[in-house]
Amino acid sequence: MKERLEAIKAEAFSKIEEAGTLDKLNEIRVSILGKKGALTEVLKGMKNVAPEERPKVGQLVNDARNAIEGALEDMKKNLAAKARELKLKQEVIDVTLPAKKNCVGHRHPNTIALEEVERIFVGMGYEVVEGPEIEYDYYNFEALNIPANHPAKDEQDTFYINDKILLRTQTSPVQVRVMEQGKLPIRVIAPGRVFRSDEVDATHSPSFHQIEGLVIDKGITFADLKGTLAQFARELFGEDTKVKFRPHHFPFTEPSAEVDVTCFKCGGKGCRMCKGSGWIEILGCGMVHPKVLEMSGIDPKVYSGFAFGVGLERIALLKYEIDDMRLLYENDDRFLKQF
Ligand code: DAH
Repeated sequence: MKERLEAIKAEAFSKIEEAGTLDKLNEIRVSILGKKGALTEVLKGMKNVAPEERPKVGQLVNDARNAIEGALEDMKKNLAAKARELKLKQEVIDVTLPAKKNCVGHRHPNTIALEEVERIFVGMGYEVVEGPEIEYDYYNFEALNIPANHPAKDEQDTFYINDKILLRTQTSPVQVRVMEQGKLPIRVIAPGRVFRSDEVDATHSPSFHQIEGLVIDKGITFADLKGTLAQFARELFGEDTKVKFRPHHFPFTEPSAEVDVTCFKCGGKGCRMCKGSGWIEILGCGMVHPKVLEMSGIDPKVYSGFAFGVGLERIALLKYEIDDMRLLYENDDRFLKQF
């Protein structure tokens, strides 16, 4: 019996030593200490041992079991530690590797141009206001002295929601909305998106942006309009920029003008940028028509004012010398990254 126990022990120790994995170790445990295990077999043979010998043999079996369990436990700890070490090694982070490049977006050229225009006018004491993109025909046309059947409606064909509601063709309706509030004097700019049923090409888009300006107070004259826009042009395109007011017609201003600036590329000599003329058109403007003031509840005998409308894309294209408006809407990363 004693030899048999020694043999089991010796075999167990050598098997444990070679186990190598936790799974294998568990198999070994079962093969020795399990129900059908070698040591269990020995215990079953106790009934053949003489009764006076039994305590001694029992003690021997217990010693063998304790020794084997101890060896199993030690090896289990050993293997678990090794497994952990291996896992740590595999999951190691190389802190010296270069970091993944973080791609940070930035402002669209339209936004940069808008913020520049806003900065200039806010500096002159203007407030920035907004109006709805879906607008009543009344505000977009009627209240701006463009009645039904007026030819100006043809040039500004748009998307109609119904007879009375449309996508605004200009930011000018914001003028009316501000005047209607009745708070005077007024000094605002109103940037925003506008819509026209135009085909897409290098200079047209069915959706683009304008910045409207409106000043109403007692004693406002064309001189104020000229001075304001000349200052705006100098801040936007450079100190040496000159402005030229060309007579024009807008239904909601009288008199009306279009404003050209000296070409900032050639300084007025004539180049590709200004198509050889030395001048570049940047906006429309005029003195607010007395009828428009009246319709919005302002007495034209007491108050007068001027208004202007700038195309935002036009400013962005000029400032960055971009020759195709479509580039502003295509969201091509390679293009946008340049600004
Ligand atoms: N709303 C005009 C357009 O879209 C631009 C404009 C011209 C606005 C003269 C004005 C203005 O405020 O006074 O063509």
